[in-house]
Amino acid sequence: MVKSYFPEGFLWGGAIAANQAEGAWNVDGKGISVADVAKYKPNISVEDYKSQWHVGLKDIEEALKSDDTIYYPKRRGIDFYHHYKEDLALFGEMGYKTLRVSIAWTRIFPNGNEETPNQAGLDFYRSMFEEMRKNNIEPLVTLSHYEMPLYLVNEYDGWVSREVVDMFVKYTKVVFEEYKDLVKYWLTFNEIDSIFRHPFTTAGIVEEKYNSKKEAEEAIYQAFHHQFVAAAHAKKLLLEIIPGAQIGCMLTKTLTYPETCNPEDILLAQKENRDNQFSSDVQVFGEYPRHVLNHWEENNFNIAMEDGDLELLKKYTVDFLSFSYYMSMVASINADQREKVGGNLTTGVKNPYLPTSEWGWQVDPVGFRVALIDLYDRYRIPLFVVENGIGARDVVEEDGSIVDDYRIEYFQKHFEQMNLAIKEGVELMGYTPWGCIDIVSASTSQMTKRYGFIYVDSDDLGNGTFKRTPKKSFYWYKKVIETNGADLENTVLETTK
Ligand code: BG6
Repeated sequence: MVKSYFPEGFLWGGAIAANQAEGAWNVDGKGISVADVAKYKPNISVEDYKSQWHVGLKDIEEALKSDDTIYYPKRRGIDFYHHYKEDLALFGEMGYKTLRVSIAWTRIFPNGNEETPNQAGLDFYRSMFEEMRKNNIEPLVTLSHYEMPLYLVNEYDGWVSREVVDMFVKYTKVVFEEYKDLVKYWLTFNEIDSIFRHPFTTAGIVEEKYNSKKEAEEAIYQAFHHQFVAAAHAKKLLLEIIPGAQIGCMLTKTLTYPETCNPEDILLAQKENRDNQFSSDVQVFGEYPRHVLNHWEENNFNIAMEDGDLELLKKYTVDFLSFSYYMSMVASINADQREKVGGNLTTGVKNPYLPTSEWGWQVDPVGFRVALIDLYDRYRIPLFVVENGIGARDVVEEDGSIVDDYRIEYFQKHFEQMNLAIKEGVELMGYTPWGCIDIVSASTSQMTKRYGFIYVDSDDLGNGTFKRTPKKSFYWYKKVIETNGADLENTVLETTK
């Protein structure tokens, strides 16, 4: 046993997203989202992260002609849409206090621009949130997790268009009103900073529509501005509709170290970290950092803003900062001469002190503590870790068990560091590891890149029974929750089937 610094009422749980779990892509009136046109990409090198995410005009055209669910795996997910009761019961059995899910915008407004919402979609989430409550699980709901309506991409250029803000605000108002008795914790845009890394998935931007890289970059900043404004509107609406509820922004924390103590390396790492935190700076402090405004000016970017936008951003900042943490990066002025590693975030210089996962992500538990402390010191508002975990290939033993000691070891090390960060004074609301049940990967759409405590019998092509089986880590995490983070070494693992 370790001394646990986790506060009483700490929200232990798990996290998934609609587009990677639900499946049922065309059921009960759901519209097509950007996720439904993302293809299975198992063979792209881990360093070629851009291609993992890329979707172009031809891809969209081809996808729209097809009903296939084999090579568009997010269309089938793990069929959470029809299994949610069983899955929530398993999460309840583990003692989850919270579960992070997202609402698929396309279940509520199939194209995004309808006059009235789709009742079947509203009913589905109502039933899901009620079921969570039955299992004593507090819903933590992301309004937009890589699943905007494709219609808004094709007809409006995604988040580059101002009209999309209005449509999102309408959708937000509908779901706040509908679920005001059921949901108290909300997140706006998943990994909002990822518009830089995969503009299509996050903001519906098809880069080839722009004449140059510079034009595309300007469009990216325009989309950022629109998402910031939409997020501020969401906070305003929340105060009006669900007093006492809380809303957070969501950042991909890409902690970057300098390769050496050469001041030039340090400057470079500092720049990477500042750039990474630009979106949370806006959403926590309510204003654009000067370095971003300077960058726009130097590049003659003309970011359209309406009267009142800046005041809105200033007034309606977030209640807490949520973030994902998977790995750390290294910045080097000699990057071109260094070995590279991959990840779903970006590619960077290899850190010789860290192991990497099969997908090239550098596993860095101590960096987790650094990230927690850095973020808290910078923002001084409560933090919420809403993604963390390791993608690995699991093996089902002859007796049906899944002995995922590597996953337990990963979490053990991260929990130790999280505990120490709290000891250092970090105010942490909760922790929801990613893909707490196996789901389809966001970047490569693989099923075999598994993150879960619960195994789902489905391979990359969707073959299998979709039966759910607790892994060894299921029992381990259950014990961690039961002891509020004190029993990390537990070997309560006799029941693994
Ligand atoms: C995060 C996303 O970036 O990483 C999730 O918010 C995603 O949607 C997770 O699933 C892990 O990435 P991947 O590509 O391994 O699924």
